[in-house]
Amino acid sequence: MFKLIKRVLTQNYYNKKAPKAFEHFYKYSSESEAYLNFCTQVHQLDFPVQNNLSQAQFQVLEEEISSSLPKNVLDLGCGTGDLFKHLSKKYKFKGLGLDFALLKETSELKKANFETFSFEENQFDLIYSIDSLYMMNNLRRTIKRTLKSLRSGGKFIIFYTATEEFALCPMAKPLRKLDLDYSLRDFTEDDSKHWNNSDNVLNDMKKEFLNEGNVSIWKTKSQEAQKNKGLHASKSLFRYIITITK
Ligand SMILES: C[S@@+](CC[C@H](N)C(=O)[O-])C[C@H]1O[C@@H](n2cnc3c(N)ncnc32)[C@H](O)[C@@H]1O
Repeated sequence: MFKLIKRVLTQNYYNKKAPKAFEHFYKYSSESEAYLNFCTQVHQLDFPVQNNLSQAQFQVLEEEISSSLPKNVLDLGCGTGDLFKHLSKKYKFKGLGLDFALLKETSELKKANFETFSFEENQFDLIYSIDSLYMMNNLRRTIKRTLKSLRSGGKFIIFYTATEEFALCPMAKPLRKLDLDYSLRDFTEDDSKHWNNSDNVLNDMKKEFLNEGNVSIWKTKSQEAQKNKGLHASKSLFRYIITITK
């Protein structure tokens, strides 16, 4: 009972605070040269992202896109939308990026809650979601609704971190209940290296953030890296790439 109350309270807190908190982060990080430099070193990308993707994980996404050449793609929880814009230009696809903390809307980037968004059926050839399917009010319903917008044979790729082995994590039950055809790739070891690398880069860059007056960005990222390094050290963090085929 206590667990349930705690979950509902945390969920309510997230619903109220998350869009503003992410918006705030995106506003400041997109103006920070130091953060851009951090993303270049850690993610090998010359635009800001707020995800846990190592280069090897990013390669999985790019390989899927370059082999299936989708025409219409959905990015669920697209953050600033920069990654969607980069990929859509590189691989010449159209589509939609959704995020409730988006700073600037365009014809393809919409500021919206993807849990309640009205999707057209069978609209997308590929859907991906990077570190965005957390704290859902109803994860099973969200996956089910999102999958309706995927054409038959299309793939939905989810980049996901858990604090439990997959069978026990919050993603496992909805996938099982929905009886989905999915494959699971374990990137835990790679994730551990990714957080070590992030932490090293952040330590080297502390002065750069300080000189820029962006110490709060450095603190946020550094605390995240420290925490995840610690969880990996105690074997309590797991990283998965889940590919659902419709
Ligand atoms: C960790 S960030 C990842 C952002 C982006 N995928 C990237 O790779 O940089 C998680 C994103 O999911 C968005 N998000 C979480 N729940 C959402 C929801 N229900 N509707 C829309 N956006 C959501 C947040 O606003 C945030 O931008």
